[in-house]
Amino acid sequence: MSADTSIFESINSIKKEIETFSITDAESLEQFRIKFIGSKGIIKNLFSQIKDISPERKKEFGQTVNAVKQLAEQKFADKQSVNSSNSKKQKTDIDLSAPGVPTALGSRHPLSIVRNQIIDIFGRIGFTISEGPEIESDWNNFSALNMPEHHPARDMQDTFFVQQDPDMVLRTHTSSVQVRVMENTKPPIRTISPGRVFRNETISARAHCIFHQVEGLYIDEKVSFADLKQTLYYFVQELFGNDIEIRFRPSYFPFTEPSAEMDITCLICKGEGCPVCKKTGWVEILGCGMVDPNVLDNCKIDSSKYTGFAFGMGIERITMLKYRIDDIRLFFENDVRFLRQFSSAI
Ligand code: PHE
Repeated sequence: MSADTSIFESINSIKKEIETFSITDAESLEQFRIKFIGSKGIIKNLFSQIKDISPERKKEFGQTVNAVKQLAEQKFADKQSVNSSNSKKQKTDIDLSAPGVPTALGSRHPLSIVRNQIIDIFGRIGFTISEGPEIESDWNNFSALNMPEHHPARDMQDTFFVQQDPDMVLRTHTSSVQVRVMENTKPPIRTISPGRVFRNETISARAHCIFHQVEGLYIDEKVSFADLKQTLYYFVQELFGNDIEIRFRPSYFPFTEPSAEMDITCLICKGEGCPVCKKTGWVEILGCGMVDPNVLDNCKIDSSKYTGFAFGMGIERITMLKYRIDDIRLFFENDVRFLRQFSSAI
């Protein structure tokens, strides 16, 4: 028997072996692959034997080995697809009647809840929303609002200067947004500006260097202090309820004249007097006043034709009163035990 013949015979027995190899699971499938079609497998080895075949039978040899290779690859592919569909079947073999795993729902931050309520209330009487940048020019935050450089009133709102010449500051109030609106809009103007503000304050239970405001502005012909009072009265009753009263105390802001601070009936004792209102029955919630004519002129609005009122409130303060929160720092700590308590409050 020639060497060729014995190689051809061994190919035949390899073929039989391929046909009878039992593949039942992923493991035997892998064994099959390694044995026959892997890079160190039998078929690879067969190809390398072509050099020992006599020239006249090389072609036949090549065809025979190729046929065996195809046979092995086909068997592998067939078993592989059966095997993977089996394992898919196993994965979907679940109890569809079992109760699902609930998705944990977050809750809105209390400041967002109250801010949205405030926006909603003013939206109902025609106030639009204006927004502006947190890093502001000195002009928009101070100078346009009657607080030129070195004016002592700047002391009330010390802040972080992030750039000099031109001076850029972290805004101390969203009145800066109102300057932008006045410079770019023809009256009538009726808008509120919610947003984050910054002050150089020592952090304590009642003060923070970051907080949130909603400021409002109404400019038109013949806007009066009576309009201011009625608008804010409506606002307070919508937010806190019909049994809440307001009172105004004269105050000072560089950008309004006259200026006032507005108190509401203490929500805790309903005016009876308690530690929260220091036994006065009233708590302060916002500053307000008639826009100073200088400010209108600074913003290119004709102060001989138009008047307006403005007001500004801290969202933290209102939220603390509404939900009886006694420490402002809780808003910024993101402790879920605190935040979770608001999950049912819209
Ligand atoms: N901008 C003032 C502040 O941040 C609030 C305010 C706004 C007062 C408008 C009067 C009028 O303290």
